[in-house]
Amino acid sequence: MSSVKRCRSSRARGIPALLVGALALALTGGSATAAQQGTLHVLAAAHGKYFGSATDNPELPDAAYSATLGSEFGQITPGNSMKWDATEPAQGRFDFAKGDAITDFAAQHGQTVRGHTLVWHSQLPNWVGALPSAQVEAAMTHHVTEVVTHYRGAVTAWDVVNEPFNEDGTFRTSPFHTAMGTDYIATALRAAHAADPDAKLYLNDYNIEGLGAKSDAMYELVSELLDEGVPLDGVGMQAHLAVQYGFPYQMQANMQRFADLGLDVAITELDVRMQLPADAAKTATQATYYRQVVEACLAVEHCVGITVWDYTDKYSWVPSTFPGQGAANLYDENLLPKPAYSAVRTALGGGDDAGEGGDPGALRAQYRNSDSSAGDNQIKPSLQLVNTGGTTISLSDVTVRYWFTSDDGASTYSTWCDWSSIGCSDVTHRVAAPSTPKAGADHYLEVGFGGGNLAPGAATGEIQLRLNKTDWSAFDESDDYSHGSGTSYADASKITVYLGGEPVWGIEP
Ligand code: XIL
Repeated sequence: MSSVKRCRSSRARGIPALLVGALALALTGGSATAAQQGTLHVLAAAHGKYFGSATDNPELPDAAYSATLGSEFGQITPGNSMKWDATEPAQGRFDFAKGDAITDFAAQHGQTVRGHTLVWHSQLPNWVGALPSAQVEAAMTHHVTEVVTHYRGAVTAWDVVNEPFNEDGTFRTSPFHTAMGTDYIATALRAAHAADPDAKLYLNDYNIEGLGAKSDAMYELVSELLDEGVPLDGVGMQAHLAVQYGFPYQMQANMQRFADLGLDVAITELDVRMQLPADAAKTATQATYYRQVVEACLAVEHCVGITVWDYTDKYSWVPSTFPGQGAANLYDENLLPKPAYSAVRTALGGGDDAGEGGDPGALRAQYRNSDSSAGDNQIKPSLQLVNTGGTTISLSDVTVRYWFTSDDGASTYSTWCDWSSIGCSDVTHRVAAPSTPKAGADHYLEVGFGGGNLAPGAATGEIQLRLNKTDWSAFDESDDYSHGSGTSYADASKITVYLGGEPVWGIEP
């Protein structure tokens, strides 16, 4: 029998602890506006937690989508590609291609992965239900063993059993329950632990966020499993909320009682749906619910993190599952942050005060490198600015600096706006030098605007910039402070933005 595992998950694995500390200092020190920098994950990591999102394979080729997925979130969960119907569609035939694409994405972006899910009544291939009862246990153990073994080291936590309960707290019928009774849960957990002793093992369910019959049933189950020495690390609360059903009753107290058993708690699938059409009142209630979930998790030390069930309405599961409902996510269908996003940032200590005053910290710079050569005679950054706040920003007050080194050759420059979706005639550009040269930054390209406004939620769209020395000598961009390798837009903290001359985004060299 396995020993009880009551150790806490190591936190915020996407970011080394020292860096988290340094970032947290950089983010919270200094002026009030500086406190508004950083992604949701960086802000959560300063509390020792992660902030993640579900994703799915068909969404990854959407460059704008995956840029934000890769930059804003420190953890991802595959929405479908590790489920039984995807990983073992026919008995003994395993297919990890889609799941591997998710773990590859995570590895490329320094993210952790929650594996979802091993044993569940849904999205189960027909062959499992057709097995004679006497064969179900062996098939389940084999499935769990193969999948967990394959993802050892790449998946840090597993939803081993998903949705074991009915709403009234009785056990849900499934091929596993029919064959093994409630023992299937301990058997699955033991098989997962044997396959990867380092993975954190969870039971996951919905409508267990607040106190009630269903969460009482989960509490009783996990208490028994721990008493029996079954390997179990945490309880996942899906948190598929809806504005019309109210906020879960005493969520923080409910999370705390699981934590008091020595278990971790994770919010695993957060979204807050509403009857369409959305309106201001429902959208405001939604923002409140997101904020309350974050506050509850922050208040419970053993709440390890929050995962949203995808971050944008563009790829939500809600409209197809709950006809007439939707608008459940942090970002809208155009990938622009909604009031719920600002509410989450504020709750995490990000200080975004959408709707109040000038809201300067709501301005962020995004960058992609449109220059395939880092050693030729031109530098070609593409930028866009996004207003994530609640007030309109006048672009004539805004300047942006892209920091680079001149290397050898002439000290005079030509600068160009090659294309901009707001038109190049309103975009100004020049090269200047800081009073003291910094590592990777003895010059900067400064971009300004002749006029125009950036409404709440709006982005400038792409601004393609280019510069060269007047003698056309080559640059070595590889050590330039603002230089990045990403070819799709992502938040760029090494590109700095100023409003009325005051820094509002990014970290200066
Ligand atoms: C959903 C996916 O998001 C959809 O794409 C799929 O069609 C159905 O499943 N609870 C869970 C998740 O544990 O696996 C579900 O995901 C949403 C509800």
